[in-house]
Amino acid sequence: MSVAVQRRLAVRPQANDFGAEITGVDFSQPVRPEVIDQLRQLWLRYQVVYFADQSLSHTQLEQFTRYFGEFGNNPYVKAVNGHQHILEIRREAKETVAPFGTSWHSDWSFQAKPPSATILHAKVVPPYGGDTLFADGIRAYETLPGTLRDDLEGLTAMHSARRTYSYEGFERSGGAQRSMSITPHDNAWQTQEHPVIRTHPESGRRALWVNPVYTLSIKGLSEGESERLLKTLYGHALQGRFVYRHRWRPHLLTMWDNRTVLHCAQGGYDGHQRIMHRTTV
Ligand code: SIN
Repeated sequence: MSVAVQRRLAVRPQANDFGAEITGVDFSQPVRPEVIDQLRQLWLRYQVVYFADQSLSHTQLEQFTRYFGEFGNNPYVKAVNGHQHILEIRREAKETVAPFGTSWHSDWSFQAKPPSATILHAKVVPPYGGDTLFADGIRAYETLPGTLRDDLEGLTAMHSARRTYSYEGFERSGGAQRSMSITPHDNAWQTQEHPVIRTHPESGRRALWVNPVYTLSIKGLSEGESERLLKTLYGHALQGRFVYRHRWRPHLLTMWDNRTVLHCAQGGYDGHQRIMHRTTV
């Protein structure tokens, strides 16, 4: 996939073209539609794109999000006052519970139409730790052993929010000890079916699309078979060679393709505050 880049945009890709820093654009100012088109192509190509030194108000973050589509629907997590589409991912210095989002997942994969993009804007960054890991689901798919890849064709997986957002899951995952305001609900028991191999609606690229937080099982397999297969798939997809480690700094604006990428927040900053603002498309 090649992208002709406008002269004023510069792109610095990470290894394997998974992740790229883009410079030459300031989102505190209106951005022309042709530049947004270019950015969209770059996002589809590199899957995780990021822009340094974007000091944005809530309204500017919302504007950035709207360049890429409609806001996603955010259940369970309380939004920022007066900005229903912005979630605050906050961990206080004194918190001891595992950070929010600390196991591998795709955002809201339990929804019928999960977000296409997740956007994270760094507000307060600890002096160490607190990175986010991203795993490339496209390379994971492309490098699956041939027979396994054939076996996955046509399979679907059941997803649900129950492990984290049912009352039981909330209790077990220490939800009540967080400074973030999370509201568990019985709706979290609902299930949603998605293909195990997902074909990207825009690029046509295929990606392995199951995750240990929200995927419950593979439809039509026994519990044991399903567990074994999911374990094999996670073992393959989460190998270090597919993972990019994203280090934050204040005002770093990052957007990833939730249709092909798994992510996972890292801890390692106890005693320090970390605050991110998140929107979805
Ligand atoms: C998330 O899962 O959306 C949070 C990621 C992070 O805080 O690094």
